[in-house]
Amino acid sequence: MNIDESAKLLRTLRTAKGMTQRELAERLHVLPKTVSKWETGNGFPDVALIAPLAEALGVSAEALLGVKTEENAKEAGNMKRSKIYRCPACGNVIFQTGKAEAECCGQSLAPLRANDADEGHCAQFAKTDGEYYVAFGHEMTKAHSIEFVACLTDDSAFVKKLYPEQDASCRVPIFRRGKYYCFCNLHGLFRIK
Ligand SMILES: [Fe+2]
Repeated sequence: MNIDESAKLLRTLRTAKGMTQRELAERLHVLPKTVSKWETGNGFPDVALIAPLAEALGVSAEALLGVKTEENAKEAGNMKRSKIYRCPACGNVIFQTGKAEAECCGQSLAPLRANDADEGHCAQFAKTDGEYYVAFGHEMTKAHSIEFVACLTDDSAFVKKLYPEQDASCRVPIFRRGKYYCFCNLHGLFRIK
């Protein structure tokens, strides 16, 4: 999608939601002139804003990026029911809806099964600057660490990678009806909110 098509799509989606540029800007914690810039073809939204922008406009991130996924989406249903895969060879994280084989590094992958977070993998959520600050009381060694935090909503998927020897915390978007997960490289996937 080129910048003019993107601008037109954003304006169309926003007006269809009955939102003003100011309302959308406030929701995304940007200036109204930033939204105006996007809608007049003078800039693309920052990649970090794609997921919250898509949620605000009630579409998938793929739809916002111009990927023709509507037919697939109908079959695949709700992103919140996506399967999460992780490649044990390279650590790649894959979200998948509907029926399809997931493959990475030459091997097929089985979906991760999420358990409710136990004491060692639960997280504290604090709202700060329009985001969640998520903190774990979990070690962050190479052998045992939280590898990523993921969030699934009805129409979007978000993943934040964490790295050994860094803090066991990160910031993630606030999705009101999102399901939040963390993945421990030793103990697997946990539902944390
Ligand atoms: Fe763990």
